[in-house]
Amino acid sequence: MPDQPPPRAEVVIDLDAIRHNVALLAARAAGAATMAVVKADGYGHGALPVARAALDAGATWLGSCSLAEALDLRAGGITARVLSWLDVPGTDVAPGVEADVDLSASSTGELAAIVAGARKAGRPARVHLKIDTGLTRNGCQPRDWPDLVDSAAKAQSDGHVEVVAVWSHLACADEPGHPANDRQAARFADAHEVALAAGLRPLRHLANSAATLDRPDLHFDMVRVGIAMYGLNPLPYREDLRPAMTFRSSVALTKRIDAGESVSYGQTWTAGRDTTLALVPAGYADGVSRALSGRMDVFLAGRRRPIVGRVCMDQIVVDCGDDVIAPGEEVVLFGAGSRGEPTATEWAAVLGTIDYEIVTGMYRPRVARSYR
Ligand SMILES: Cc1ncc(COP(=O)(O)O)c(C=O)c1O
Repeated sequence: MPDQPPPRAEVVIDLDAIRHNVALLAARAAGAATMAVVKADGYGHGALPVARAALDAGATWLGSCSLAEALDLRAGGITARVLSWLDVPGTDVAPGVEADVDLSASSTGELAAIVAGARKAGRPARVHLKIDTGLTRNGCQPRDWPDLVDSAAKAQSDGHVEVVAVWSHLACADEPGHPANDRQAARFADAHEVALAAGLRPLRHLANSAATLDRPDLHFDMVRVGIAMYGLNPLPYREDLRPAMTFRSSVALTKRIDAGESVSYGQTWTAGRDTTLALVPAGYADGVSRALSGRMDVFLAGRRRPIVGRVCMDQIVVDCGDDVIAPGEEVVLFGAGSRGEPTATEWAAVLGTIDYEIVTGMYRPRVARSYR
């Protein structure tokens, strides 16, 4: 067999970092179960390998967005509890019930679809009732909550569902001290009271990563951790988290150019002195946003060096000055930051977004993924 060529561009996922982060988060939420949120292909890190690492490290639940994502986990051999929370009307949830996937209902309509799925599957569905406490996204409006709770209690006594939990999601947990956090907690408590009054005995879960780290009073029975498990810190203060994703490529070609030569489309950068350029075969088709043109470094041959000129679809150009750079040399576009390389968080700051979007956006057909 011929050797595989090295990938043009690749993300490398450090599963030890995932395990470290999950262990840290689970310890911070001791007394509550830990759900590892692996939606969107594990925030771009690979749902199955991340799920296995997280379960190894102390998580006991997994969270996915769509039922299809949950069923992919089951198909991958995952038997742990999985909650799936957002599909479109018309989705047949019976396969989820059959696969023992927990489902979420934000309305009596969604509950009816779950009851239909349970009838079809011939067994009760496990349901988490979602109250909208102020994120105003999915979740049931407080004014409609008593109806949803009553319908769920009836469906439970009819044997169609088991009401597992009452849950909600926070809007501002990454801003400690934001008044919305306490307001949401109070509405959550009210919603739980309504469920208790209807004779239900549900678990409660509310906290995302930020609240897991910052609001022990909101851990309840389970925390749902996403971004911090991937090593990115949603809080404005330091936590001992290890970023799990490194995005790297290698030098395809080097060239010496004279002062006065310009680089890439539009010739927006001109060499002020004779210099060596390194061509890196990763561009905006590979996740290097064109908006990073002239605004980001890479880590190459022991130090940071600037991307010069415009980012193209398939390539970027790096100014290496008078250093001797060998084709094939590793280029780190972002990583954990421990060697001084840019991080996904730094990319996000330059691009005016959040690191969630950077790592989740790395799930691309042309970018290889490997694990260590
Ligand atoms: C419902 C729900 N719970 C938990 C999470 C995890 O949030 P975070 O990644 O901030 O920990 C998410 C992610 O957006 C979510 O949608």
